[in-house]
Amino acid sequence: MKILITGVAGFIGSRLAKHLLGKGFCVYGIDNYNNFYDPEIKNRRVQDLLNNKQFFFLKLDLVNCLNPLNKVDFDIVIHLAGSPGIRYSVDNPEIVYSNNVYATENLLRYMQDRGKTKIIFASSSSVYGSMNDTLLNEDITSLSPLSPYGVSKLLAEQLLHKFHKQFFFSIICLRLFSVYGPSQRPDLVIPKFVEAMVTEKPIYVYGDGNATRDFTYIDDVIHAFTLSVNLLLNKNDFFSIINIGRSEAVTIHFLIDRLFIKLKIIVPIIYQDPISIEALSTCANVEKSSSILGFKAKTTFDEGLNMYIKWFFNNK
Ligand SMILES: NC(=O)c1ccc[n+]([C@@H]2O[C@H](COP(=O)([O-])OP(=O)(O)OC[C@H]3O[C@@H](n4cnc5c(N)ncnc54)[C@H](O)[C@@H]3O)[C@@H](O)[C@H]2O)c1
Repeated sequence: MKILITGVAGFIGSRLAKHLLGKGFCVYGIDNYNNFYDPEIKNRRVQDLLNNKQFFFLKLDLVNCLNPLNKVDFDIVIHLAGSPGIRYSVDNPEIVYSNNVYATENLLRYMQDRGKTKIIFASSSSVYGSMNDTLLNEDITSLSPLSPYGVSKLLAEQLLHKFHKQFFFSIICLRLFSVYGPSQRPDLVIPKFVEAMVTEKPIYVYGDGNATRDFTYIDDVIHAFTLSVNLLLNKNDFFSIINIGRSEAVTIHFLIDRLFIKLKIIVPIIYQDPISIEALSTCANVEKSSSILGFKAKTTFDEGLNMYIKWFFNNK
């Protein structure tokens, strides 16, 4: 079975590729090595994957002509390439819309031309925006994303739905909730706090520290993608949007306390005004992921933090 992973050099893509190779899949990966963070980190991840003879890599930008992919055969696409980063999207909306929306349309059109119709898409909890509901539910229709990033992911979902309706694509959109773990992107809250603490610098908190995130450990997310692959390979003309989270709201204060205890370092906390583009709380309703995929996140927040910290010190 052959899988094409876009954004394979990224945090999630590289770990997913390694996992699927271990399961015996043949993996083709593409990435443009953009400079949202150090491309050398991406290069190292790809070099590691290239040790497996079943892995093939093509440096390619999804906004360009995709003909170089003609020599690649694949049964299913896992589409992870994109510009993440909520704050980044406010300063760079054109880059974010290009990589998240236009690139997705370009990929879908290319697939249609080649008669390929199965795709799993990495969407985001950012599509929900600020909701009154405690648990975010896939059936909510009045979505109002707060950032260009959230809007771009919602537009991409709508584009995918259009290809399902018009051209009978089979699609799963996974709305990922705050993925964290080894080799995580440096722009996210856990790497930033750990880096500040070990270098004994203050940490900056937007708001009063009571905002919550549904932190989801990377290997649980990888498991959700694997279950989605297995489901989609046996489905035709299928469309589903599914939350992938733990359904546990962790406050930023709790995160800081756990890190202070685990690292045995205490640094000053500097509180800043809350940022209007970030939701105050995110927590996934996971009934659908359980009923459709048979998925349940296994890693507790404490276990996940331990694994991140261990990786951090081994790779510092
Ligand atoms: N990490 C999270 O918490 C999280 C949460 C929700 C959704 N997501 C989504 O999951 C996906 C992967 O996230 P990640 O954390 O691994 O990010 P990442 O930045 O580490 O990986 C994304 C990869 O896509 C590549 N890329 C971007 N634009 C491209 C283009 N036009 N052509 C080819 N390659 C391109 C980048 O070079 C990068 O290697 C993203 O789409 C992101 O929006 C991530």
